Amino acid sequence: MTSKGHFITFEGIDGSGKSTQARMLADHMRDQGYDVILTREPGGSAGAEEIRALVLQGDPDRWSAETELLLFTAARRDHMERLIQPAIDSGQIVICDRFADSTRMYQGLSRGDLRSKVDTLHDLMIGREPDLTILIDMDPGQGLARAKGRQGTEERFEDFGTDLQEKMRAGFLALATEFANRFRIIDGGRAINDVAAEVQAVVTAHLSSSD
Ligand SMILES: Nc1ncnc2c1ncn2[C@@H]1O[C@H](COP(=O)(O)OP(=O)(O)OP(=O)(O)O)[C@@H](O)[C@H]1O
Ligand SMILES: [Mg+2]
Repeated sequence: MTSKGHFITFEGIDGSGKSTQARMLADHMRDQGYDVILTREPGGSAGAEEIRALVLQGDPDRWSAETELLLFTAARRDHMERLIQPAIDSGQIVICDRFADSTRMYQGLSRGDLRSKVDTLHDLMIGREPDLTILIDMDPGQGLARAKGRQGTEERFEDFGTDLQEKMRAGFLALATEFANRFRIIDGGRAINDVAAEVQAVVTAHLSSSD
């Protein structure tokens, strides 16, 4: 339907509904006739999924913040060169659940003040920002309650206190100001379908303004 590729990312604190909304948007866009790739970070390509297991499983102190940043950047490079960029070049819509903004927050803010290193590595090794970033903003207490409803070996939410989640929320809102041209903030503290309807409206507006 469209011949121009687009790169759309979802960001926000843990449990805010990124994966839910990314999936619903992908379904909606496919129904509209678009060629859509739904992917996620860390991971998204075979090599990056292997790195995902290294960074998300095991002892939380397994890696220093710096090593973790290098692993995330290596995974993103593989994801970008093997999946994301070729898909954009072939005119597909790439929807990615978390991307570099999550690294700016988690490695750049929560595990030490590495933001400038995050940006330097990003410029050097990734060199591209999304066309549109949807920030699902919500109260961390609500996110915690949702995340606790799930189980799995990758859950790290409980390791982060509410104070840190408040800091993350503020950090994401600051990123939205810093990159105001590509960020759109959506209130995630509502029913799933209401959030999805606003996501669709934002994406439709983006596509019609850039095609
Ligand atoms: N608007 C909503 N209202 C109520 N529950 C929701 C809403 N959106 C998502 N959920 C539920 O909350 C939980 C977390 O949602 P989801 O996995 O989409 O969040 P996430 O942002 O991807 O989390 P994480 O950062 O941990 O990957 C899921 O069980 C999901 O079904
Ligand atoms: Mg998720």
